[in-house]
Amino acid sequence: MMETGTMRESMRNAVTDNVFMPNETVISEIIEENSTIRTYTLRFTDRAAAFSFLPGQFVMLSVPGHGEAPISISSSPTSTDAIQLSVRRAGRLTSALHSMKAGEYVAVRGPYGVPFPVDELKGRDLLFVAGGIGLAPLRSLINYCRAKNGEYGKITLCYGSRSPSDIAFKNDLDAWQADGSVDVRLTVDVPERGWQGRTGLVTTLLDDLTINNSNSSALLCGPPVMIDAVISKLKESGMDSEQIITTLERNMKCGVGLCGHCHMEGVLICKDGPVFNVRTLENIMGATG
Ligand SMILES: Cc1cc2nc3c(=O)[nH]c(=O)nc-3n(C[C@H](O)[C@H](O)[C@H](O)COP(=O)(O)OP(=O)(O)OC[C@H]3O[C@@H](n4cnc5c(N)ncnc54)[C@H](O)[C@@H]3O)c2cc1C
Ligand code: FES
Repeated sequence: MMETGTMRESMRNAVTDNVFMPNETVISEIIEENSTIRTYTLRFTDRAAAFSFLPGQFVMLSVPGHGEAPISISSSPTSTDAIQLSVRRAGRLTSALHSMKAGEYVAVRGPYGVPFPVDELKGRDLLFVAGGIGLAPLRSLINYCRAKNGEYGKITLCYGSRSPSDIAFKNDLDAWQADGSVDVRLTVDVPERGWQGRTGLVTTLLDDLTINNSNSSALLCGPPVMIDAVISKLKESGMDSEQIITTLERNMKCGVGLCGHCHMEGVLICKDGPVFNVRTLENIMGATG
């Protein structure tokens, strides 16, 4: 007969091994990034439920009474005591989350999905290109690379927002500029009074850069139209599609490759992605016609 301690341990493993098991977290801090995006710091109420993850992975976030949605982890795995999710108010669940206060509870299950290839990127110059909330998963990777002091090459960020007041993650942008760890370049679609920076699509920022294609990788996240334009521009400038890495979004239900809800051209975005290199995507598209 199994000893009680061993039985308890194996029951505990069975529970924690259940990929659908949500873990309760308490909202410990909320940062207002702009009028529609907030960053939530979540602490696990059972510290043993805290998990390790890599940048690019996501969780299924559940808000009581409002279901679940996939959300990227926007903090770096190098900060281990809590995770951060940066959430744009879009519909039912995210609006409910935006009405919550610090001290209230939400649950997360995960982490899921293929992360950014952090080992393959070592030693390379990294060009991040993001639009709006797309900076959330890239923020995780940027802070990870900064924490790994010297393991990565030069970091450049091209970040596009709708207007100056829509620029999110200002604390991060300021910190990255202040310590010189990231060459931050901003643009807005529509200027406002007092804006002295660039106006135009994020692709216009790429025109100012001299990219060493033999030792650079690009990491993209944003609306599909932005991603398509940036991929074309980078390829035109001679970057190999193997070195262009992007994230893809699809509606999800299970998050773990079982329900087929996120199926696209023969791949499951939740399990085979959400991070893909463009060469792989070209091969998939080529194979499916
Ligand atoms: C891998 C992955 C990672 C993601 N990471 C993030 C992240 O880090 N941060 C983040 O914010 N999102 C992220 N998303 C997107 C997020 O999962 C979706 O926005 C999700 O649908 C939000 O759930 P919801 O119930 O609030 O919105 P839903 O009710 O599901 O609404 C979904 C869509 O309908 C539109 N919509 C809903 N209600 C209205 C309305 N009243 N008027 C006009 N349009 C409306 C929304 O604009 C949205 O496009 C991610 C998605 C994936 C697949
Ligand atoms: S969400 Fe179920 S297979 Fe991807």
